[in-house]
Amino acid sequence: MGIIVEQKSEKVTASVKWVLEDPKQKEVWWPSEELKKMAWVSDESIYEQADKDPTAFWANRAREGLHWFKEWDRTYERNPPYFKWFVGGRINASYNAVDRHIKTGRRYKAAIIWEPEPIDEPARVLTYYDLYREVDKFANVLKSLGVKRGDRVGIYLPMMPEVQIAMLACARIGAAHSVVFSAFSADSLRSRLKDAEAKVLITADGYYRRGKVLNLKAEADKGVEGTPVKDVVVVRRAGLDVDIVEGRDHWWHELMEDADAHCEPEAMDSEDILFILYTSGTTGKPKGVVHTTGGYLTQAYWTSKWDFDIHDDDLFWCTADIGWITGHTYSCYGPLLLGATMLIYEGAPDYPEPDRWWDIVEKYGVTIFYTAPTAIRMFVKCGEEWPRKHDLSSLRILGTVGEPIDREAWLWYFHNIGGGRCPIIDTWWQTETGGTLINSLPGIGPFIPTVAGRSFPGMRHAVLDENGNKVGVGGSGSLVQLSPFAPGMLRGIYKDPERYKELYFSRYGEEIYYTHDGARVWDEMHNIRLGGREDDVMKVAGHRLATAEVETALTEHEAVAEVAVVPAPHEIKGEVPVAFVILRKGRQPSEELAKEIIARVTKAIGPTAKPENLFFVPDLPKTRSGKIMRRILKSLMKGEPIGDVTTLMNPEIVEELKAKVGYVEAGLT
Ligand code: PRX
Repeated sequence: MGIIVEQKSEKVTASVKWVLEDPKQKEVWWPSEELKKMAWVSDESIYEQADKDPTAFWANRAREGLHWFKEWDRTYERNPPYFKWFVGGRINASYNAVDRHIKTGRRYKAAIIWEPEPIDEPARVLTYYDLYREVDKFANVLKSLGVKRGDRVGIYLPMMPEVQIAMLACARIGAAHSVVFSAFSADSLRSRLKDAEAKVLITADGYYRRGKVLNLKAEADKGVEGTPVKDVVVVRRAGLDVDIVEGRDHWWHELMEDADAHCEPEAMDSEDILFILYTSGTTGKPKGVVHTTGGYLTQAYWTSKWDFDIHDDDLFWCTADIGWITGHTYSCYGPLLLGATMLIYEGAPDYPEPDRWWDIVEKYGVTIFYTAPTAIRMFVKCGEEWPRKHDLSSLRILGTVGEPIDREAWLWYFHNIGGGRCPIIDTWWQTETGGTLINSLPGIGPFIPTVAGRSFPGMRHAVLDENGNKVGVGGSGSLVQLSPFAPGMLRGIYKDPERYKELYFSRYGEEIYYTHDGARVWDEMHNIRLGGREDDVMKVAGHRLATAEVETALTEHEAVAEVAVVPAPHEIKGEVPVAFVILRKGRQPSEELAKEIIARVTKAIGPTAKPENLFFVPDLPKTRSGKIMRRILKSLMKGEPIGDVTTLMNPEIVEELKAKVGYVEAGLT
């Protein structure tokens, strides 16, 4: 491909002077002329132009990128803390993702290439025409089960094309989907289905993970108990002999056999709900983040196109599971809206060997690859001999998302996967934001390890100090988004308006969206380095998890009197939960008991949330009013200085805890 990303430090001096004070930060790359020539955007003036009138900028993008059955009456409407985009516009997500393309030369282009985990199983390829037929048929299946516009449908599926088909079929008839990560437990599924009041659940018999077949249907059966779900549609994936509940359960393939191959798409209002996706907040209960149609699709379309510079002959692979927002936007809506070809993979990255992903890149000629720092760190550990076995020269752009990427992982990715030619697009965003917000663009740059970049054109962010003042170059504070808010932003928390206001619009008022992330203004160009969450939300292998959720699960064990969960640093996963447990009177600590207590988390949330370590302790550091000082526990785990403990009710416990966790203050070793 021959695209060289050049390292030109001299170009940097004027605009990123501050950066150069640190010699390591001379690691700044810029796009080559060749890359610029190919990129959809390469002229920096796009930022200024868009910022002059973001509303007009987005109106043009919405018009250019999408098909509207009816154009909107008003582009942006504010009613703080609420806002709307493309008010009065009529649109359908599945029409834009599928129907549009079958009227063009993309009709027989591959839409989805699916790589199953078993190496001897052939890939499945769905053209846009195949996808169109499947979506229409499944939309009719949903209708036949009584699903109507405005209803909610649960989806609990592994990575396989039926997941995109199901999502688009919901969108086609105007039902909101609520996808639940397939590795979440039955309890997690149940609480989400209940909250969303889902009528139907779509699941599979099982799926492959590290060579084993996992029985998803058994979890789904437990998960639907006590929920409003009346019908369960089961995809036959693994050939498992599963229980079928007469009258409730139906095989996907049987229903599809009789389904009509045409279903007229509903003309949805731009602000109708497209989907609900549950994510962890700071409490024990996940919240249903609500995304609506027109604005979300606009942001999905343009961020996919410009961030990853997707062209018609690209093969885009986003490794995120569909259970997360990254999967929704970049393994479903974004690439399909563009009429791109995307790849999805069912299984584990290191199965059967640690080069499975690189094998897939080589086999299909993936050109754009988007993954998470936790995966990169895992591959760093496995060694560079694994990617070296494969020809990765088809790659031209790399992306990362989900947590801050450290310099070492960034450089490893850049050199060992990208061959020093591919820019790394470090995208910062959240479930709440629907699509990316802050990152460098491939044709503009710069590409700096640990620095995500600037706000996408037409979006506005600032870093504020405690008093709400903007900090200058080099300053740190809280990252916020300013109005007009990006079109793909959440419109609320399902059935919980108070929480929406409190979480995002109380810290700095109703006109400023608080992201809960710390950040630093890197340079005069307003490139941003992200510093991690400021609240009690962890990123465990990129998965978002509240310490409170884990605590709630642990306290369910009858032996537990009190518990505190904090994140501890982890080489591969970034962070892992660790638990401090005070046992009830009369209960003796034992390894057996620790296992039993930890098992509560697997049951309540899923294996990804399992504490890495559990310490039985006689007491926890508390303020005089009895509040647990998690900050101290966090510092203990991070090896940070503990600071002043004299205000504690029980300062003596700190020494005991230090011994228990083997505390060594960083820098003293
Ligand atoms: O802390 C930020 C971190 O992930 C959080 C959002 O998590 P979630 O809703 O699960 O969405 C992840 C995928 C979009 C943010 O508040 N985060 C996400 N991307 C980055 C990041 N931190 C640093 N750099 C990133 N590129």
